[in-house]
Amino acid sequence: MTKVGLVGWRGMVGSVLMQRMQEEKDFDLIEPTFFTTSQTGKPAPNFGKDAGVLKDANDLNELSAMDVIISCQGGDYTNDVFRKLRASGWTGYWIDAASTLRMEDDAVIILDPVNDGLIRKAVADGIKNFAGGNCTNSILLMGVGGLFREGLVEWVSSMTYQAASGAGANNMRELVKGMGVIHSAVADELANPASAILDIDRKVAQAIRHDVPTEFFPAPLAGGLIPWIDKQLENGQSKEEWKGQAEVNKILGTDKTIPVDGLCVRIGAMRCHSLALTIKLKKDLPLSEIEALIKSTNQWVKWVPNDRSITEQELTPASITGKLDIGVGRVRKLNMGPEYISAFVIGDQLLWGAAEPLRRMLRILLD
Ligand code: HSE
Repeated sequence: MTKVGLVGWRGMVGSVLMQRMQEEKDFDLIEPTFFTTSQTGKPAPNFGKDAGVLKDANDLNELSAMDVIISCQGGDYTNDVFRKLRASGWTGYWIDAASTLRMEDDAVIILDPVNDGLIRKAVADGIKNFAGGNCTNSILLMGVGGLFREGLVEWVSSMTYQAASGAGANNMRELVKGMGVIHSAVADELANPASAILDIDRKVAQAIRHDVPTEFFPAPLAGGLIPWIDKQLENGQSKEEWKGQAEVNKILGTDKTIPVDGLCVRIGAMRCHSLALTIKLKKDLPLSEIEALIKSTNQWVKWVPNDRSITEQELTPASITGKLDIGVGRVRKLNMGPEYISAFVIGDQLLWGAAEPLRRMLRILLD
């Protein structure tokens, strides 16, 4: 049975991965070893299969015994351990949730409903390093990949609305704490229907400016937004915005780069990333054909007709969170011309955006 080492399984992405692997009975097909950076020798978790004790995630000998390693431990761990492990001669498969290896020549960005052919060719060619994509890009391609597949996309402007989960578990906690702080500041006034809304607004603004915690986010997110995600690049893009074009084209394996750009914005959703897209098509297609192509992207696309009440019910974080569905809606022709369409895409950042492509890559290796 294939020996699979799991690192970072206790963190947020790792926990979602463990949940999905149990649901899909992946553990029936593997011999799992659980690694730890702090609790070596303690009993390993039992996800339906005894896995002995926890092994040291920095022990190259233990790691070398694995056929496949899946890491959700983060980029620092990859930078440190992955390179030493390869230098020691280990030739197993490394599947990583972190961004560290994504753009390296000997690594493939995995999103098999979109690039299964590219992944399988890489495996056949002896590629051993596989990295999950940036969550926003994975959700974009899971939603409207059918248009790319048919070579219809000239460019995409992608304006994102990214959830707190993309920044980490502490950030999710901080968002909810901030909501509580704001509510507490005006709880009495809210209980009194006769209280003045501008008094409530003044107290809320004060709470946001002075009391909402900002230990993890650079600015208050509850009741607001932050129009910058990740590092600042010299060209004025954020690193998150840079990833759009770089990763989308790498996932698709394009010969000629398709421009993808836009602003990435953090909003106060818990774990659903959304994108408002402007897509310039290479030709004027009827909306019915565009709809059919989007629906044909994959089985997880949840098509939402461009109708007010259905959109309000179904194209929201409340509806999508915790599910594998990728909502796609608000598709219509824009005033700019018949080749310009809008689309709104929404998906769970921790599922298709992080954990799901990793376990599906494992399944490809087990085929
Ligand atoms: N960089 C993403 C975000 C998450 O901050 O939302 C990881 O893909």
